[in-house]
Amino acid sequence: MPASIPSPSQDGILQPTETGDPAADGRLFRRCLGHYATGIAIITAEHDGVRAAVTVNSFASVSLDPPLVLWSLSHTSRSYPLFKAGRGFAVNVLSSAQMGISRHFSSKVEDKFADIPWSPGEFGSPLLHGCLAHFECDNHSHVEGGDHTILLGLVRRASRYEGEPLLFTQGQYGVASSHPEASPAPELTGTSAGDMGTAYQQMIFSQLFKAHHVMSSLFYEHRRDEGISNSVARALISIYDKPGLTIDEVARDAYLGQRDVEDALASLRRRALVANSPDGRLSLTDEGRRLREAMLTRWKAFQDRQVEGIPEADLRATSRTLTRLITQSGFAA
Ligand SMILES: Cc1cc2nc3c(=O)[nH]c(=O)nc-3n(C[C@H](O)[C@H](O)[C@H](O)COP(=O)(O)O)c2cc1C
Repeated sequence: MPASIPSPSQDGILQPTETGDPAADGRLFRRCLGHYATGIAIITAEHDGVRAAVTVNSFASVSLDPPLVLWSLSHTSRSYPLFKAGRGFAVNVLSSAQMGISRHFSSKVEDKFADIPWSPGEFGSPLLHGCLAHFECDNHSHVEGGDHTILLGLVRRASRYEGEPLLFTQGQYGVASSHPEASPAPELTGTSAGDMGTAYQQMIFSQLFKAHHVMSSLFYEHRRDEGISNSVARALISIYDKPGLTIDEVARDAYLGQRDVEDALASLRRRALVANSPDGRLSLTDEGRRLREAMLTRWKAFQDRQVEGIPEADLRATSRTLTRLITQSGFAA
């Protein structure tokens, strides 16, 4: 079966999962925007000896000649006056190893630069260490856009480093992997017995990506039947496993952005799955716990269906190989 991401318009009829007027429903607007995957950047600036930094996913390229980029800044940001008054800014594009940095710079900590390695850039803005790219910019222009200001920067210097980007989509952080259809598995046919080991070795890596892609596509379909989005499911699991967390703690535990966790909680509350507590500590209602347990049962049944007919010895060998691949790379299995 080919790996295909299920589309809600399969029968030629447009049937969105949800639709509406974004002016009347901001959360719906954000959920729809969340389907456009982006990278993550920290925008930094210094003005009169004071530094500011914000996590953004609104960064985009604009023009090659002259070299222009843009990003948009909320008027509610504490850093708004500094970015408006400053001469320029630096765009620090995060690598997949910097999820913690993204969370740190989107938080309300007082001194965002304490304990973070950075160096002053030649054009006046701080450059964070460990990033994938830096764009050092002079202010080009500011354009008002509703509750945000769009800041266009004239790029004075662009630098890149080796690594993988940090991604953000549907309220969650991610890493990039090549699409399996863009890197087909090498064929084993015509390979001599002596070369079989090498051929399997080559195949297993592309198969790993393909298996992951196929399984997540199938599981996505399964999750859609439950009527629960990814971020709602993550928040639900987090509160089930650790009752008594605050919203901020759920955001950290479920690796969700602040607004996405608020959105997920609003959805859980609407469905009476999360209990109201005066001290802001979250717990599930009986109905919420039942839903989480039903999800676990379905997840187990999904796994059973996928491995049906594969001998246990093969599953054990696969698991041993995967564990070894993971631990040899220094990650916990
Ligand atoms: C993934 C992600 C993307 C964000 N993108 C933006 C953005 O494009 N523009 C913006 O103003 N805030 C964005 N934010 C929120 C800011 O990071 C956050 O409000 C800001 O850092 C608060 O800083 P301040 O009030 O100390 O200035 C984003 C947050 C996250 C987690």
